Amino acid sequence: MSLHSRTDYTRGQLDAAQVQGDPWSLLQRWVKEAVDAGIHDPTAFTLSTLDERGFPHGRVVLLRDTRDGELVFFTNYQSEKGRDLERIHKGGATFFWPHAERQIRVRGTVKRVPESESDAYFASRPRGSQLGAWSSDQSERVESRSDLDASYERQEVRFSDQEQVTRPQHWGGYALVPVEIEFWQGRASRMHDRIRCIRDEHGGWSISRLQP
Ligand SMILES: Cc1cc2nc3c(=O)[nH]c(=O)nc-3n(C[C@H](O)[C@H](O)[C@H](O)COP(=O)(O)O)c2cc1C
Repeated sequence: MSLHSRTDYTRGQLDAAQVQGDPWSLLQRWVKEAVDAGIHDPTAFTLSTLDERGFPHGRVVLLRDTRDGELVFFTNYQSEKGRDLERIHKGGATFFWPHAERQIRVRGTVKRVPESESDAYFASRPRGSQLGAWSSDQSERVESRSDLDASYERQEVRFSDQEQVTRPQHWGGYALVPVEIEFWQGRASRMHDRIRCIRDEHGGWSISRLQP
C-alpha cells in the first residue's frame, strides 16, 4: 500500500502576537473553534504516559473541561493510563484538528481532580456509560465479549432499583497542568508555524518560534 497523498496546508497562520503572553486563551479558542466546526469528537486528544520501563503509552481520551488552566479528562484510575499516572505524575496531550490544519502539544504534571468534581461529572453521564464504568475493569484481560456483556447485565440488575448510579471509587478525573504548550499551524511548502510556550518560574510564559 502506497501512502503518498500530499496536503498543502493553507488554512491559517500563526505568530507569537496571537498568543499574547496567554497560551491558555489561545488553546481554549482553538478547542472552541473545533467544537463550533461541528467535527466528530472535537475535544479528542492523545494522552501520553510512561510505563514502568520508560516506554510511552498513547491513547485517545476526551477533554471534558479547561477550567483553571488545566486539561480535565475522566477515566478508570486502575487502567493502564491510571497506573502510569499514579506512578509518574506527568503526561502529554496532543490534539490534531485536520480540518483546521492545527496541532497542539501539551506537556505537564497530572493530578486527580477533587472527588466532588468526579461525582458531579459522573452524575451527568448517561446511565449506560455509568453502568459501563462499573462493568469494565479497564485494560484488564477478559475471556470473551460475552463475558463483558454479562458483566454489564449484572450491573444493570444491581442498580435496577436505584435511580442514581453511584460513582465507582476507581473512576474519576485527572487534570493535566501544563508546563509547556506548543501550537502548530500548517503552512504551504511545509514551512509551518510553530509557537512554543514554556512556563517560567514567575508563573508567566516564555514564548518562542520553532523551525518547522
Ligand atoms: C474518540 C475516543 C475517545 C475516548 N475517550 C476516552 C475517555 O475520555 N476516557 C477513557 O478512559 N478512555 C477513552 N477512550 C478509550 C481510550 O483510548 C483507551 O482505549 C482506554 O482508556 C484504555 O486505555 P489504557 O489501557 O491505556 O488505560 C477513547 C477512545 C477514543 C477513540
